[in-house]
Amino acid sequence: MITCIGIACSPRRGGNTSLLLEQALTGAAQGGARTELITLSDYNFRPCQGCNACSKDGECILKDDMQQIYQRLLAADRLILAAPIFSMHLNAQAKALIDRSQRFWSTKFALKRRVIQDAASRPYRAGMFLSVCGTAFPDMFDCATKVVRYYFNMLEMRYAGGHFYWQIDEKGAIRNHPTAFQEVLEAGLRLVSE
Ligand SMILES: Cc1cc2nc3c(=O)[nH]c(=O)nc-3n(C[C@H](O)[C@H](O)[C@H](O)COP(=O)(O)O)c2cc1C
Repeated sequence: MITCIGIACSPRRGGNTSLLLEQALTGAAQGGARTELITLSDYNFRPCQGCNACSKDGECILKDDMQQIYQRLLAADRLILAAPIFSMHLNAQAKALIDRSQRFWSTKFALKRRVIQDAASRPYRAGMFLSVCGTAFPDMFDCATKVVRYYFNMLEMRYAGGHFYWQIDEKGAIRNHPTAFQEVLEAGLRLVSE
């Protein structure tokens, strides 16, 4: 059985990206995956300090809650990252998660080692991105998508695409979208069926 983790990056509990993530995880469970939800605001971790210690051994010297998330990222076969757009980019919590994953970047690109030690036994890992924004500007997801693609690459995951919704601002407004819930439900199922 494959493991699909979802990371809810918004600080707004029950907000739009979290609702989308729940649907996508439901789809993944329907597809036979074991699913896990990580609500980032439940975890207490510091931003990356840029100390570069991870370039020596691939480990992060900050011993906070991020250590638990590292283990779950390494164990996951699929990842669904759900984060809203704040100030035209990923919200700060999502960016902090990615910065604190620098230990994986160091492992892969500085130390030139595999991030996933048992990659031979589970060669297919993939990630999907879910996001919403309040405005209708067409390029609103461009910066975030670029960074998330880079993040999945760092995690040795194929980018399995994203689902983006504009003009979704109030808490729960995504519920009124005509197709979003069905789309992400199906996307979650597809993600774990590939
Ligand atoms: C601090 C902050 C900055 C935001 N910046 C943008 C922005 O640059 N562009 C945009 O379209 N929406 C922006 N929004 C709107 C959010 O993307 C929108 O409210 C979204 O539905 C929040 O998702 P959530 O419910 O999952 O937290 C911003 C919201 C906040 C709180």
